[in-house]
Amino acid sequence: MGSDLAEKINRRRTFAIISHPDAGKTTLTEKFLLYGGQLNTAGSVKGKATAKHAVSDWMDIEKERGISVTSSVLQFEYGDKCINILDTPGHQDFSEDTYRTLMAADNAVMVIDAAKGVEPQTRKLFKVVARRGIPVFTFFNKMDRDALDSFELIDQVEHELGIETTAVTWPIGSGREFKGVYDRNKREVVLFSDTQKGTKEGTEEFIPIEDRDRLVEVLGEERYEMLMSETELLDGASAEYDQDAVSHGKLSPVFFGSALTNFGVESFLQYFLDMTTSPLPRMSDQGIIDPVERPFSAFVFKIQANMNKAHRDRVAFMRICSGRFTAGMDVWHVQGGKQVRLSQPQQMMADDRHMVEEAYAGDIIGIFDPGIYSIGDTLCMPEDKFRYGGIPTFAPEHFARVRQVDTMKRKQFVKGIMQIAQEGAIQIFEEPQGGMEEVIVGVVGVLQFEVLKYRLNNEYNVDIRMEQLPYEYIRWIKNEDVDLDAVTGTSDMKKIRDLKGNPLLLFVNSWSVGMTLDRNEGLILEEFNENE
Ligand code: G4P
Repeated sequence: MGSDLAEKINRRRTFAIISHPDAGKTTLTEKFLLYGGQLNTAGSVKGKATAKHAVSDWMDIEKERGISVTSSVLQFEYGDKCINILDTPGHQDFSEDTYRTLMAADNAVMVIDAAKGVEPQTRKLFKVVARRGIPVFTFFNKMDRDALDSFELIDQVEHELGIETTAVTWPIGSGREFKGVYDRNKREVVLFSDTQKGTKEGTEEFIPIEDRDRLVEVLGEERYEMLMSETELLDGASAEYDQDAVSHGKLSPVFFGSALTNFGVESFLQYFLDMTTSPLPRMSDQGIIDPVERPFSAFVFKIQANMNKAHRDRVAFMRICSGRFTAGMDVWHVQGGKQVRLSQPQQMMADDRHMVEEAYAGDIIGIFDPGIYSIGDTLCMPEDKFRYGGIPTFAPEHFARVRQVDTMKRKQFVKGIMQIAQEGAIQIFEEPQGGMEEVIVGVVGVLQFEVLKYRLNNEYNVDIRMEQLPYEYIRWIKNEDVDLDAVTGTSDMKKIRDLKGNPLLLFVNSWSVGMTLDRNEGLILEEFNENE
């Protein structure tokens, strides 16, 4: 392979931002784009109105589909790097797509509101990232507001999430008393200055840690002493920087800043780009596929329906894992067992789609899908025919019993619900004695129930009735030869099967999961289903 191709691939960095709503993911993304020269003023990544929508606004959101409801990718250049940020939808539109997007990222940035610490959505997303063992970088945001104690914050990450940390920067005060950060690597204090909420200019003063006089002058004696004792404590307590541990997701470099005021964002970006990896090799059924050495290959991680009733086509989003992609190329669709032409490739940039002629390992492209692709499908060169590992099915947390109102429309109901499930927006389950007139639908985010109802009605002309069920925990039974009837659980437990016939259990509370394991010796229950 030419060195030109190697250079193009090696300068790519593909990451996702994980956070709890309101931690500042949008603001941080805007600032990254600002530094990348993609935005003149921050504030145009997505309108606040769409970012903070309510469930009832769903139809309006649909009009802007492509950016607000489902995730997309932002690409920008910074220095000699080409960066892809995968947007992980949050708020009410939190769905399985949010999780799947993480399967397409090589690195994760975890944004935490320093006043709140680790929150539920961060925890959920972190779990998925941790299973992949990819690098995780922690950015404690909103230091311009009163924050929790910094040691308490890193303690939460270490103990609640279970990853070691190494502080690269360390804050000096917070809120009104926020003075800046100490860069432990460069051994200098960066003084806080509010750079006018959105311009990249600004005067940041850097003071070497040895310059005691100047530091005392700007920080005051007391803060200076405190910084000294905290850094001493850190030197003793915080893990040393270890690139190998970072690359394997065992150690998270930690940064403090304020996305709103731009403080600490650019230095975070610079460190991040240095510490992250270029597109990673992926495992296939023919061994590891090197991103540079092998020709084009990709896998589908998201399918987005076209909401236009007139043409029921879809866009399949794929992550390129190796080689170069060129528009109109003929590739092998492994699961379909056919050669296909990849036409109409698109890339998303902020709120606008554009056609791409070329893309490389690390990039994400959207391909017109006449209904042939499924989540997890592999595309590669016809002479290769290898297959990437599937994308796990993530545990839904909300369940409803769904039935059609007009029993004459059984066919449309089954077709519609199966197609929507194939796109991966919902998961369908059957009760052991049930037929397809009535199914149990599981979703990761409740907005998907609304989406389902609306789409069945709008696209398939089927009205449904939905009864929400109290279950919150789902476990796949992994024992090969289990007799579902013989499993004895708690009174709140429900036995169901997925569409492939795999047996599952639903529970109302987590306590029942443990109880059921106790009562059935040798039973193996899992939260993710890997064998897709
Ligand atoms: P999200 O995408 O993670 O949900 O968060 P988003 O960036 O939308 O930020 C949530 C709120 O927090 C916004 O305020 C945003 O301005 C604010 N914010 C983000 N970073 C910082 C920071 O470093 N310091 C402070 N003080 N605030 C920050 P909002 O009032 O909800 O929206 P807006 O109308 O002000 O934009």
